[in-house]
Amino acid sequence: MILYIIPMTDQSEVRRPASGLFREIETIQAGKPWGRLLDAGTGTHSIGWVGSLVTEQWTAVTGAEAHAVQVRDAIAPRRREGDRIIVGNWQDPDLLAGETYDTVLADYLLGAIDGFAPYFQHRLFARLLPLVGRRLYIVGLEPYVTVDPGTEESRIIREIGRFRDACLLLAGEQPYREYPAQWTVDHLEASGYRVVAAKRFANRYKQRFVNSQIDMCAPRLAKIADRDLARSLAAHGEALRDRALGRIEREGSLRHGFDYVLAAEPA
Ligand SMILES: C[S@@+](CC[C@H](N)C(=O)[O-])C[C@H]1O[C@@H](n2cnc3c(N)ncnc32)[C@H](O)[C@@H]1O
Repeated sequence: MILYIIPMTDQSEVRRPASGLFREIETIQAGKPWGRLLDAGTGTHSIGWVGSLVTEQWTAVTGAEAHAVQVRDAIAPRRREGDRIIVGNWQDPDLLAGETYDTVLADYLLGAIDGFAPYFQHRLFARLLPLVGRRLYIVGLEPYVTVDPGTEESRIIREIGRFRDACLLLAGEQPYREYPAQWTVDHLEASGYRVVAAKRFANRYKQRFVNSQIDMCAPRLAKIADRDLARSLAAHGEALRDRALGRIEREGSLRHGFDYVLAAEPA
């Protein structure tokens, strides 16, 4: 398994993210020290928050080198000697072997596992257990399909999700596979943790979400050899966009499903 350590650079600005999910984690932490912190599925969003905390040291892990470079550039002004960005895979038993962190953050890591270590999800928390000194925080998205209030708003979000995933699959890419909060709690408990806090946050999707989901399909559709199929999918995407944006204009947002935050400690 190749493991790269991304060196330091100094570029760009760090902006403190104001995510309600991270604020919830701060509330659960209740002023206790963060100590050494592991961002086990890093990205520009989580590292911006991690960089704003008082930590002794942080380590950020990603499965993709391109991601690591984005994270390095985003956190450059706040990165200290000893803060590490590592490209590795949690399937690799040697990754951070023997290390322990007071706080471990798995921010939308579970849903992204399918792209890096398919069928490894049920082993993720056991894999992280020896690294968790005090607390593991998990941020996840309840899969669109497990929530079905039967509303038009809900139908649109589910259709956008199916359309996006179909385009990714047809282009030979692996979509995210999210897991329900209850699945995550069950697997934490079966993996040697006790869950100490759980909270859900209702999602309201706006224009930016709709446009980003439909727009990301264009380069994928360009790769499909069957041009009739690609054209017809593109038209379907635009119809979905119109439906979603029209509804958002009338209602302000599309309400569907929830994100969740869980806090767990070694049992
Ligand atoms: C959706 S992104 C996380 C979002 C991120 N916290 C942010 O701020 O935007 C998922 C992250 O988990 C990493 N990841 C997914 N599966 C992994 C695996 N098996 N091993 C290591 N990293 C993995 C991805 O490379 C990526 O860095």
